[in-house]
Amino acid sequence: MACVELRNVWKVFGETVAVRDFNLRIDEGELMVVVGPSGCGKTTILRMVAGLEDVSRGGIYIGGRQVNDVLARDRNIAMVFQNYALYPHMNVFDNMAFGLKNRKVPREETRRRVGEAARVLGIDHLLGRKPKALSGGQRQRVALGRAMVREPQVFLMDEPLSNLDARLRVQMRVELARLQRRLGVTTIYVTHDQVEAMTMGHRIVIMNGGIVQQIDTPMRLYERPANLFVAGFIGSTPMNFIPVTLERHDEPALRGEGLYFPIPPELVESGLKTGKERLVLGVRPEDIGLDPELARQHPEWICRVGAEVVESLGAESLVYFTIGRTAVTARLAGVNIPRPGETVPLVFNLNRAHLFARE
Ligand SMILES: Nc1ncnc2c1ncn2[C@@H]1O[C@H](COP(=O)(O)OP(=O)(O)O)[C@@H](O)[C@H]1O
Ligand SMILES: [Mg+2]
Repeated sequence: MACVELRNVWKVFGETVAVRDFNLRIDEGELMVVVGPSGCGKTTILRMVAGLEDVSRGGIYIGGRQVNDVLARDRNIAMVFQNYALYPHMNVFDNMAFGLKNRKVPREETRRRVGEAARVLGIDHLLGRKPKALSGGQRQRVALGRAMVREPQVFLMDEPLSNLDARLRVQMRVELARLQRRLGVTTIYVTHDQVEAMTMGHRIVIMNGGIVQQIDTPMRLYERPANLFVAGFIGSTPMNFIPVTLERHDEPALRGEGLYFPIPPELVESGLKTGKERLVLGVRPEDIGLDPELARQHPEWICRVGAEVVESLGAESLVYFTIGRTAVTARLAGVNIPRPGETVPLVFNLNRAHLFARE
């Protein structure tokens, strides 16, 4: 086990700055998720830590030692890719043992490690099979096993679940998180899927265009997004963004097309902190609803809206409507759901809302 640190790391490909001044410290045994849209530099970061790509500037440290000039094979790191590339002519045992054979690990030791990894992954009954006789999930486990038997200091995983179907992906992400906890190996896990990031990461790095947006625990990213990008990226139904201006008469309030909300002091504070007048009110769909208690306490936060589309998901429903010209979604729990065309008084929980500068 080792901590991993990247200090002021840059990666430039010709004209493209793939990674810009990246700083991150991953603690021993931590599962750090790097998440962001395609092309934001995630794979490049992993490849630099693995030693498959030089850094343009900055330093990479593993266990406190600078490894910029250490060859990939001497970094004691194992990488798992989206495309798990098993050797089709070898059975599961030989696929898992392949890296050890190259390292001249004795046969007994190889057998012990493969056996143990297979048992942990629940594939010990498949050791004699060829990859083509395995399901997608089983193949992914073999790829993981191949990384585990190396007993590395660090795991690097690049979208390892994205080739699996949705149901299997959910199952495997739980298994992976459990396995990582059990093995306690420092792990950097890359994904473009914010749900995967939120459910698996001890901490998460959110990237956009080669630049770190925020590094935090899942809960803090959700509760305190540092900017509009993070706010819109985290949350399985995205946060609503409504253009408003801050008015500071006797009672501070937000005014927008079709809405006027007096607001609590903390929200005024965060609006003033942007230093801008044209703001965006960020409210999560789960913070708009029919809560009678909140409606009684804050009748000024009620907005009568016309439900346009209603999607019932069972335990909850999504209600789509428009305020001014802005499309807004509310997520209502329970079964007492408005019908399309109905006008409903929805209450916005502005105690949980955010204000951002518009640009
Ligand atoms: N070998 C390369 N040569 C030139 N450009 C590259 C190379 N690898 C990556 N890039 C560019 O760097 C940026 C980041 O790529 P990548 O790290 O693969 O993103 P992600 O994994 O987040 O999708 C992209 O703009 C990509 O086109
Ligand atoms: Mg990638």
